[in-house]
Amino acid sequence: MSNNEFKVTPWEVKGEVDYDELLKQFGVEPLNDKLLERLRGHAGSLHVLLRRKVFYAHREIGDWMDSYEKGVKAVLYTGRGPSGYTHLGHLIPWILTKYLQDAFGSDLYFQITDDEKYLVDQELTMEDIHRYTKDNILDIIAVGFDPRKTRVFTDLTYTKEQYNIAVRVAKHVTFSTARATFGFTDSSNIGIIFFPAIQAVPCFLPQVLEKRDAHVLIPCAIDQEPYWRIARDVAPKLGYRKPAGIYSKFIPGLGAGGKMSASMPETCIFLSDKPEEAVKKVKNAFTGGQPTIKEQREKGGNPDVCVIYSYLYSLFDEDDRSVAETYRACKAGERMCGECKNQLADKVAAFLKEHQRRREAAKKRVDEFLLKE
Ligand code: TRP
Repeated sequence: MSNNEFKVTPWEVKGEVDYDELLKQFGVEPLNDKLLERLRGHAGSLHVLLRRKVFYAHREIGDWMDSYEKGVKAVLYTGRGPSGYTHLGHLIPWILTKYLQDAFGSDLYFQITDDEKYLVDQELTMEDIHRYTKDNILDIIAVGFDPRKTRVFTDLTYTKEQYNIAVRVAKHVTFSTARATFGFTDSSNIGIIFFPAIQAVPCFLPQVLEKRDAHVLIPCAIDQEPYWRIARDVAPKLGYRKPAGIYSKFIPGLGAGGKMSASMPETCIFLSDKPEEAVKKVKNAFTGGQPTIKEQREKGGNPDVCVIYSYLYSLFDEDDRSVAETYRACKAGERMCGECKNQLADKVAAFLKEHQRRREAAKKRVDEFLLKE
């Protein structure tokens, strides 16, 4: 590790993440302009999360588009660990997944790892997990996936088909590889040591269920990459295609430093927050501003460390000219933090209102999405 110590595993993100360094550590590629142009060609336009490089890395997404163009079935796979209520950070990969589903007309397999969260989190009871699972499914449906093309399933209820594939995967993964990949220790429980085989299953599930060739692309946050390393190693041994991936950075919390985390509720926008509550959190957020208005006018602010600016940039201000102007005016001392906070607060409030309306409507539609045994 360099002197800037950081650590990213599927269960822990520590320190300030150096995303370029992480590309090297994980051996994945940056998303280059050529690939982005190809995506634009298929989708008609480039999603703001791609334009602003929130999704910044990939593995073989070009091959996945080749498959699509050649008529191989192109499928999407993403997931959620139901360890709590959903927040804005969780939604980022789902929003991109919906865009990709629309662009490529893809089937989507959505795995809910109720087993993983039960095994990893010492505090959570099975009842907690079931409650979060039910709750999280509503947020997933609210994103707007196509019910005819989307299969949502949980590991503890859609088990038989998954287990049959998981044992085949597990046979080819040694403990030494799993330990090196995930950092298991002697005190890791044996459930979590097996679990990576379960998370690999949906990479191959479309091929198994439909008995035909299919190429899976996984949109997710970059911390999930170690799982796909295992899945990709095993794929050829089982006669399956390796999954491709498209990976995002983490969305920061509203405080100074760190990713958005449910364990710090005051710096976290939950999808169930009342719009007024979320507005309050935005107004209390960490900015790149100076301590006084006078100093801000003289010295200018620092958008590069500002959480408010990063939200506008990453997702909430899609207009390239407007966001560039915000950056310039902030640095020049012409724009005060209050203006950015108001702009973001309005956007977040509107976003939550719409999401919560769709979430309410989702309650009647769960059966259209759930894959059962
Ligand atoms: N392990 C993930 C989590 O803790 C859940 C998950 C399962 C997932 N399969 C996935 C996430 C595929 C992204 C893509 O949230």
